[in-house]
Amino acid sequence: MSDNAVQMKHIVKEFNGFKANNDINLELKKGEILALLGENGAGKSTLMNILSGVLIPTSGEIKINDTIIKFKSAADAKENGIGMVYQHFMLEKSFTVLENIILGHEPTKGIFLNLKKAKQKVLALSKQYGLSVDLNSKVEDITIAQQQKVEILKVLYRGANILIFDEPTAVLTPQEITEFIKILKGLSKEGRSIILITHKLEEIKAVANRVTIIRSGKSVGTFNVAQVSDAKMAELMVGRHVNMKLEKKKSQLGNEVLSVKDLKVKENRGNLAIKDLSFEVKSGEILGIAGIDGNGQDELVEAITGLRQVSSGKIKIQNQDITNQKVRKITEAGVATIPADRQKYGLVLQMSLVKNLVLQNYYHPPYSRHKIINFKNMNLHAKKLINMFDIRAANEDMAAGELSGGNQQKIIIARELNKNSNLIIAFQPTRGLDVGAIEYIHKQLLKARAAGKAILLISYELDEIMQLSDRILVLHNGQKSGEVTPQSTNETELGLLMTGIK
Ligand SMILES: Nc1ncnc2c1ncn2[C@@H]1O[C@H](COP(=O)(O)OP(=O)(O)OP(=O)(O)O)[C@@H](O)[C@H]1O
Ligand SMILES: [Mg+2]
Repeated sequence: MSDNAVQMKHIVKEFNGFKANNDINLELKKGEILALLGENGAGKSTLMNILSGVLIPTSGEIKINDTIIKFKSAADAKENGIGMVYQHFMLEKSFTVLENIILGHEPTKGIFLNLKKAKQKVLALSKQYGLSVDLNSKVEDITIAQQQKVEILKVLYRGANILIFDEPTAVLTPQEITEFIKILKGLSKEGRSIILITHKLEEIKAVANRVTIIRSGKSVGTFNVAQVSDAKMAELMVGRHVNMKLEKKKSQLGNEVLSVKDLKVKENRGNLAIKDLSFEVKSGEILGIAGIDGNGQDELVEAITGLRQVSSGKIKIQNQDITNQKVRKITEAGVATIPADRQKYGLVLQMSLVKNLVLQNYYHPPYSRHKIINFKNMNLHAKKLINMFDIRAANEDMAAGELSGGNQQKIIIARELNKNSNLIIAFQPTRGLDVGAIEYIHKQLLKARAAGKAILLISYELDEIMQLSDRILVLHNGQKSGEVTPQSTNETELGLLMTGIK
């Protein structure tokens, strides 16, 4: 017996002739944490979907504990001890946490469900691994981080020894990531073997033993994490040198573009989420909003973009009052938005890339004239953006839902940065992007700033806020807890302001 839990050899996966995996090798040792690193569209999710039985490989061999196996379904893979937490969660929102965990796998007592026994088992697991979550809550009422714990419990409950996590930290805040990393370490200490997909090099450094790097569907190699630097990892995955430090010119401030005055906005349960907030953003300026997730960021963005009712106060774009106006009116006033939830607001997944790249804009020239749509111009526009933003797609007619997660994000960014706008609202713009793509998007945001656009950047990544912002407004509990500049502050001070300490 070797010490391998998993061996994948010469894996190939084709989608209509396109090779998403083109001869990939991967070995996971028993009890180790292996990071899987690669650019957006490199083939990571595809490879892991093959290991978890969701996709059948075109060719190649898989061994689990030294035995060759051929999975026909996800159920097959589960039987063999493989559990995967997917990039987009798959929970039944209207069911409770406990129901979700035991769904389809209930222990029976005669013909009756032995709920008590199931619950005891879940409680024991949750205690053992520090996965605390209220079992009786409905999934729709708990946070994303808690939903992730439910997904992990679900996989453990089914007895998985080989755990796969597909970008688990992309949806978590820095505080939640620290907790998640502890959970991962605990799981590995108990002897589980783990594959972790992440674009964050510092996470790989913090938890992984080894890292397997893939590029354009091919293996690049596997390295001991202790012996490879961040810069080297980035270079191996992108195939060129990545500049991790941005060059930022002095800002040229112009007129006031966005003005928010005495704003009050309620959250879903009717409590004030934004309690009296005032600020403005000028042309040529990037205003960063720093804060811990859940301090009013969602409600603020929804209020400005017309998705949520404003209780009182005023929002103006270039002196035009847009408070409580319709979404279309606000877009027409020159607001471009990169939303935090790309699948909910940013894209129509079943529609083509061509159409997704002109959403909200298709009724303007050059895409349409006198109500007649000009398909040729729409196609040209799509081809141009796909090329500029290096969107990895088979062609421009494929459905947005068939793109990899990061490339879906790039579609939204390409569309929003290229539309005629005065204000760009960028909410977690680089979530799920690889380091090369982040570098490019950051440069594009600085280019928009140089072109005189006003940019409101809301991000949970302090690095991103510090690198891009001209001014930083710290949001705590729906109020401004401080206003600083990147030159005058540091991460410690920001951290304190974010918890409301002045
Ligand atoms: N069902 C599908 N039909 C057609 N092409 C697909 C399908 N699923 C994936 N692809 C293509 O396969 C390639 C690899 O996608 P995959 O999702 O594995 O990338 P990834 O490495 O996980 O990227 P990301 O970091 O952006 O999540 C992409 O070019 C994608 O468009
Ligand atoms: Mg992916």
